[in-house]
Amino acid sequence: MVLEAIRYKPGSLQILNQLKLPHQEEYDEVKNSTDGWHAIKEMRTRGAPAIAIVAALSLAVELQTGAVSDQAEEVSAFIIEKLDYLVTSRPTAVNLADAARKLKKIVESAAKHASSTGDAVKKAYCDAAAQMLISDVADNQGIGKYGAAWIEQQAGGGQVSVLTHCNTGSLATAGYGTALGVIRSLHANGSLKRAFCTETRPYNQGSRLTAFELVHDNIPATLVTDSMASALLRLRGPTERIAAIVVGADRVAANGDTANKIGTYQLAITAKHHGVKFLVAAPRTTIDLHTKSGADITIEERPGKEMTFIKGPRYDGVDLDLSQVETVSIAAKGIDVWNPAFDVTPAELIDGIITELGVVEKSAEGVFDLSLAMEAHN
Ligand code: MRU
Repeated sequence: MVLEAIRYKPGSLQILNQLKLPHQEEYDEVKNSTDGWHAIKEMRTRGAPAIAIVAALSLAVELQTGAVSDQAEEVSAFIIEKLDYLVTSRPTAVNLADAARKLKKIVESAAKHASSTGDAVKKAYCDAAAQMLISDVADNQGIGKYGAAWIEQQAGGGQVSVLTHCNTGSLATAGYGTALGVIRSLHANGSLKRAFCTETRPYNQGSRLTAFELVHDNIPATLVTDSMASALLRLRGPTERIAAIVVGADRVAANGDTANKIGTYQLAITAKHHGVKFLVAAPRTTIDLHTKSGADITIEERPGKEMTFIKGPRYDGVDLDLSQVETVSIAAKGIDVWNPAFDVTPAELIDGIITELGVVEKSAEGVFDLSLAMEAHN
């Protein structure tokens, strides 16, 4: 069975509710852009590429199932207003803003034709939104291929292990995944000894989602808490041949500074300290040349209760009771909480940025030139 976080056919969009994973696999119907906005905000769907695709498709379904004006300009204005609204759902991942910008261009140009109708603009939008779902899988397969080859070449043969953070797999994308795509490719090539995945506090994307995908695909894997990463590299790194830490990204700035799930920055520091390669795997839709450096990236802060409470099925010491989902307090009542969802890893700590076109490395002067990778992207 292939893991499918997004199910789309014209007129229908369903998302795998990631709040219920790994214990329950339930699909939620997304009928319009309001449903899409809420699914993203509430993190029922998440991960930079998936957020953009679900947002775009939620509006496609709204257009396909509702009454649409026969005036091209009116449909274009309606789509643009809804895209602006969808972009407000989560601020850090650039994929959504990037998708909205491209989709706006498409509808504006479709509406400009003298003979254009409301239906023609709607069709141009829906075709482009559906194409995003297809292109993302192909991009991820490219990332997987190039990332695995780079790691294999650096390791000079034999099986290697890698550590990853958060969830960057089929659940965070249209399929296959970015950093998890690299792990899937290493495994498919017979080059993967073991994948280590961090729990990824406070939302536990690692223990709930990445672990779920690794078990699902029968990839040899071990779960560690975020606080174990340095000990893992020092104590088990040499025996496990940990060749790299590979993470995804929510926004890569023009200079290579990378915003990703909170905890990524400390992994990059420990990688440097232990002489382990640190790689960012991201499609070009995550690279934002309009943002000069990490200092310009807005970091989303999430509600404190995501840190102070944890949700899961009741456990009686032997079995899980999946019908009894409980929310449990894990912090002292009244404590002040700071809950940034992402951090920024400076480019100087990153050895390579893996895109669907290859691995971008720094120049001899220690600078990433991402403009080349972005040519012909807009
Ligand atoms: O808050 P989330 O779960 O949406 O954060 C996800 C991440 O940080 C991922 O690493 C990133 O979006 C890349 S997904 C291919």
